[in-house]
Formats: sequence, C-alpha cells, structure tokens
Amino acid sequence: MSSRVVKNAPYYQSQNWPGPFSISNVSTETDDIIARHIRSIDPTNCDIYGEDGFWVVDFAIIRNQLEIWERLLPRVKILYAVKTNPDPQLLEHLAKYPGKIGFDCASHGELVDILSLSVPPDDIIYANPCKAPSHIRYACNKNVKKMTFDNVAELYKIKANFPDAECVLRFKVRAPEAGDDPSEGALYELSKKYGVTIEYSREILLQAKELGLKVTGLAFHVGSGQRNVRSFGQHIEEAKRIWEIGREVGYTFTILDIGGGFMYSNFEKAAEAVNAALDQEFGDVIGRGEMEVVAEPGRFVSAPAFTLVTSVIAIREEREGVDGKRMVYLSDGMYSNINAAMWPGELTFPTVVKGKRADGPKSTLPVSSASSDSGIEIDEGDQGSVDQEGGTATLITGDLQEYSVWGPTCDCNDVVMENALLPKGIELGDWFIFKDLGAYATSMRTTFNGFRTSHKTYYINN
Ligand SMILES: Cc1ncc(COP(=O)(O)O)c(C=O)c1O
Repeated sequence: MSSRVVKNAPYYQSQNWPGPFSISNVSTETDDIIARHIRSIDPTNCDIYGEDGFWVVDFAIIRNQLEIWERLLPRVKILYAVKTNPDPQLLEHLAKYPGKIGFDCASHGELVDILSLSVPPDDIIYANPCKAPSHIRYACNKNVKKMTFDNVAELYKIKANFPDAECVLRFKVRAPEAGDDPSEGALYELSKKYGVTIEYSREILLQAKELGLKVTGLAFHVGSGQRNVRSFGQHIEEAKRIWEIGREVGYTFTILDIGGGFMYSNFEKAAEAVNAALDQEFGDVIGRGEMEVVAEPGRFVSAPAFTLVTSVIAIREEREGVDGKRMVYLSDGMYSNINAAMWPGELTFPTVVKGKRADGPKSTLPVSSASSDSGIEIDEGDQGSVDQEGGTATLITGDLQEYSVWGPTCDCNDVVMENALLPKGIELGDWFIFKDLGAYATSMRTTFNGFRTSHKTYYINN
C-alpha cells in the first residue's frame, strides 16, 4: 500500500528526520505492555471503566530527546514548559538534572508543583507576562525572581508585589502575513496574545527604569510547532536590537530566553539557525560569560514519549443497512486525551489491534494499515509489533474501508477523524493506538460529559 502524505502531515513522521531517533527504533517494550493490558480486559464483564484508555510513557525517549538537545544546543539551558505535560513522574525525572534543566511555570499551581520537587527557585522562570497579583506575591514568598512582562500595568503589579523581581521583557514575534505559506509557520501562533513590538520596547523599558525595576533580559516564543526554522534566527537578531535599546536606557541584560516551538522533525536545522544567530549577535557576550541563554521547550521533550491506547466502545453504519462508511466511537475523544484532533496535523495516525470481543455483531470481513484525509500521514514502516500471531492484541491489517472516528461525549464536534481509511473488520472492544501524544493532551483534557480522563499510566525505562 502506498503511503499518502496529506496536508499538515505531523512533524514526527517527517522523512527529514534522521533515522536513529525515530521512535519506532527505540523500543518495543511499549508494544508488550499494550498487548498485556488489552489481553487483561474482557469487555463482557470488566469492572466499571475497564475499557477506558491507558497511557504508556517511555523514559528512554525522554532521555534521548534531552541528549539530542545537549548535543546540538549545548549553550542553551532547558527550562521545560510545564504546561505541555505536567505528568508528576516526568517532572520528577526532569528535576533530577539540577542546574542543567529548569522549568517554565505559568501559574501558581505550576510553581507549587515544581517547588515541591525541591527545584531551586533560580532554575524557574515565571513565564507569563500577565499574572494575577496574588500569584506574584506567592512567587515573591518563594523567591522565584525571574518573571516575564509585556505591559505597563504588569510593571506596576510587580513593583507593588515583588519589587526585587528580575523582569524579562517578552517581545512579539512577527505575525503571519497574507501570502505567507501556512504550512511554513507555527501550529499555534502566540504573538497575538503576548509580547511588545520592537517599536514599543524603548518606551516600556523607560517606564520600568522610572519605577526602579530590574529588567534582566529578553524573551520571545516563535510559536508552538514552528516549521520555519528561520524564525529562531530572525528573533535572535531582533533580540539584539532590543538589547541595544536596553543598553541605551541603562540596562545590561544577562539572560536571553528563546522560548519554545522546537519540533524534532526539524530540530537539527532549528539548532543550526539558533547557533548561527547566537554566534553572530551575541558571540562576544556569551564568550565572556556575560549572558545566559535559556529556552522553554515543551513539545520537543515530551511529545514522542507518550502513547495513548483507547478502546472501541460503539460502532455503527453511517447509513443504516448500507455496507458503506462506518462510525467508530472511542472511549477517548477531543474533549479528553485526543484533543490533538482539534488541530490539523497534530494527531498521529492510529494503528488498530484486536481486543477481546465484546458482545455484538461479529465482522466476517478480512482485515492493512491505513490513510486519512484528516491531516494525518501514515508511516508505513511503523506497523508495530503488538502481536502478529493472531488473536487478542493482534494488529488488524488487510483491506481498508472508510470510517469516521468519534469521541464518547454527546457533542457532535467530538470527532477524532472524519474520513479515515482503516482496516475492515474493526469491532467493539478493539483498541486504537495513538503514538506521540505527549504534548498538550493530558494537560488540556476535560471531564466534559462525565467521562473520566485519569487513565492508568505505565511508565517504562525510568
Ligand atoms: C511561554 C511559553 N513557553 C513555552 C511553551 C512551550 O512551547 P512548545 O511546546 O512549542 O515548545 C509555550 C507554549 O504555549 C509557552 O506559551
């Protein structure tokens, strides 16, 4: 079967990514765990929530990501963006690299979680330019000094609640313009919400000066899932211009925060762009040890390590009595752990495995892998090794047919894939496997409609 590359193909299956770090080469332990779990669930008599989805988290992949970062961006310290995935074991793991890995927290709650792991306050940046005053007071009590700002009202709040804070000015990245190729930009633009323009930077720095506040550096974020690696270099150049403006106002900045937005499909190229721009714009200050460079990666660290497995709880024909498109309902959907379905190109293409059969009509159809028009690319080489012997937890392969795939809530927007070619013969009790869902899935899920989201999680190689 030929692989069909469709619009907004997900970054993790890009052919540009060098093979050795492809996740299918890292471990098949995940597959064994999936098979064991599936064999243990009998939908005809399982306990309440027995058919719920579950996660497998592979720490070998996390370590691999950190090693790649260290090799390609040795001058840039990671401040992991907690919002991306605050899994407690993941945070605990990252906190074991004191001094080497710090954290980007954006709220009181995230600060509490990270400080409870005995992370030194100096290894934290409170990276939210618009904070509640009581949250600033909490940061003050805990001596978390580094915090971003991008407006004058925030400066007054900081002055009133934490006059000794080390303020970091967030500036705006260039917004996409008409005519820009949408497949070249970020999956999520952040600049319409945060950041000052270069033109306004002098004015706000003068105000900070007048208030007697310390401004110690600059921050930007090129947008999450940035496919245009030139963006990193362009914004480091812009940082240099604001750096000079800061000098004219009377500030000597000591920190440059280049934000998140890193993906692993283009990480090598992004790192090249960052290193070249750092050398050109800040080579001398970095060389003299007068400036620390930090970044706030989220997706790059956590996405590839998390696999979601979720079961088929209902199935029907789209048109009654017609042997055509089928509708599959999963125990997870857009409001819970498959919220990646909301954004084109975010969701990996699933593989489907047989479960213990639930009570229901049996399919007699032969059962291959698949394709879709929903922004998902199929990775032919990644057929999985769940079990090729047949029976429960066997990969379902063979001829394809059209499906739509839905979440469990009653909202008709709760759709995972509207048009997908999946193997024939999917039945009640079968399981869908979605790899690489470790970014913004668990952190953004809801219990809408009363569905539980707190799934069992298997951790391996920790
Ligand atoms: C301030 C800030 N830093 C870091 C991140 C993490 O971005 P990414 O997951 O693209 O690396 C985000 C994501 O929204 C963010 O808002």
